Amino acid sequence: MARGNNLHHLPLQGILIVVLTLLVHGGKLSPDYYSSTCPQALSIVKKEVIAAIKKETRIGASLLRLHFHDCFVNGCDGSVLLDDNSTFTGEKTARPNNGSLRGFDAVDHIKTKLEKACPGIVSCADILAIAARDSTVYLGGPSWVVRLGRRDSLTANKTAANTFIPAPTLNLSALKSNFAVQGLSFKDLVALSGSHTIGFARCISFRSHIYNDTNIDSSFASSLKKKCPVSGKDNVLQGLDLQTALNFDNDYYQNLLIKKGLLHSDQQLYNGNAADSLVRNYVLHPSSFFEDFAKSMINMGNISPLTGKKGEIRLNCRKAN
Ligand code: HEM
Ligand SMILES: *[C@@H]1O[C@H](CO)[C@@H](O)[C@H](O)[C@H]1NC(C)=O
Ligand SMILES: *[C@@H]1O[C@H](CO)[C@@H](O)[C@H](O)[C@H]1NC(C)=O
Ligand SMILES: *[C@@H]1O[C@H](CO)[C@@H](O)[C@H](O)[C@H]1NC(C)=O
Ligand SMILES: *[C@@H]1O[C@H](CO)[C@@H](O)[C@H](O)[C@H]1NC(C)=O
Ligand SMILES: *[C@@H]1O[C@H](CO)[C@@H](O)[C@H](O)[C@H]1NC(C)=O
Repeated sequence: MARGNNLHHLPLQGILIVVLTLLVHGGKLSPDYYSSTCPQALSIVKKEVIAAIKKETRIGASLLRLHFHDCFVNGCDGSVLLDDNSTFTGEKTARPNNGSLRGFDAVDHIKTKLEKACPGIVSCADILAIAARDSTVYLGGPSWVVRLGRRDSLTANKTAANTFIPAPTLNLSALKSNFAVQGLSFKDLVALSGSHTIGFARCISFRSHIYNDTNIDSSFASSLKKKCPVSGKDNVLQGLDLQTALNFDNDYYQNLLIKKGLLHSDQQLYNGNAADSLVRNYVLHPSSFFEDFAKSMINMGNISPLTGKKGEIRLNCRKAN
């Protein structure tokens, strides 16, 4: 009797293990997805990312941000890369992206090299995920194993880009819900915001913070007002991390402690509330920031990928096949 029962329960346990494995590993994505179909994929992307950063250091930041803006709009599906044309409006002109998102030429360049080596195999969505990791590592940040196998969308949604990509005017509770919609935690929010240890923002993105907010160091605000007047010069750039805008380190959090966050949304993470202790932890323990950042990047990269027969492998990242 007991023996019969055990046998009867085995298939159920098997199914449970499969389900748990899928949950833990983020759907069908896997690190060795291209190991037989395009074993050179990872080394090609890395080589091209390094070459692009050597040409222009900021490209590393721009590539990291591209993956974020891709993932927050209907999942990591390469939708952000589709160009507008006479019959199609994509995400590139959405409010958070227009005149701001960059790195598209670098992605094209990587894609061209991959198409030469392994035609029709590596998706644009996966290129963004790998390039985000390689950029982070090259600029001095942590590494992680990138899960692969995302396919590319056939379309994009500008309204969704306007809705789901967080604005720098959001307060902490709005930022928290914005991440929660994507299945990301409060800790993911604080860790991933550490991306602002690299790259630049335009005057238009931080103007109201330096003129109207009170949780900002006054001499920091004064010096920024010289670069970024009340009106005009919308596109003047300022490093998100004032010391080392091109080094991936924990300076971003140190700046928050002294009220030198550049964006309103940045300073929300250290403003006398629940995020303060996480920020202080990252100031005291840079390795804890690196560990959490790597984990959170994997979480972000797992957002709703297209797998199996969904979507396609785009031949040109700017256009559906
Ligand atoms: C938490 C909510 C976030 C808000 C409100 C936000 C907002 C912004 C804004 C306004 C800019 C400057 C854009 C411009 O003025 O042209 C920026 C730049 C940047 N963001 Fe975020 N961001 C957030 C989270 C993230 C995340 C999660 C990542 C990556 C995982 C990221 C990576 C970057 C990078 C690297 C840059 C610099 C890009 C460059 O120099 O080309 N941000 N962000
Ligand atoms: C995008 O920005 C350009 C200038 O950079 C502007 O001419 C255009 O109207 C903007 N498009 C949208 C949809 O906001
Ligand atoms: C685009 O996204 C918006 C906002 O999420 C949604 O309401 C709309 O249905 C989407 N459009 C399409 C065609 O999926
Ligand atoms: C945060 O912003 C939301 C949306 O604008 C608003 O409803 C809420 O009252 C704000 N919360 C705080 C604590 O200011
Ligand atoms: C500061 O706030 C006032 C009142 O809300 C607004 O009219 C003004 O445009 C803001 N200034 C900047 C530079 O954002
Ligand atoms: C416009 O772009 C969409 C999305 O990439 C594509 O499906 C369509 O074929 C393009 N149309 C033209 C005329 O290129």
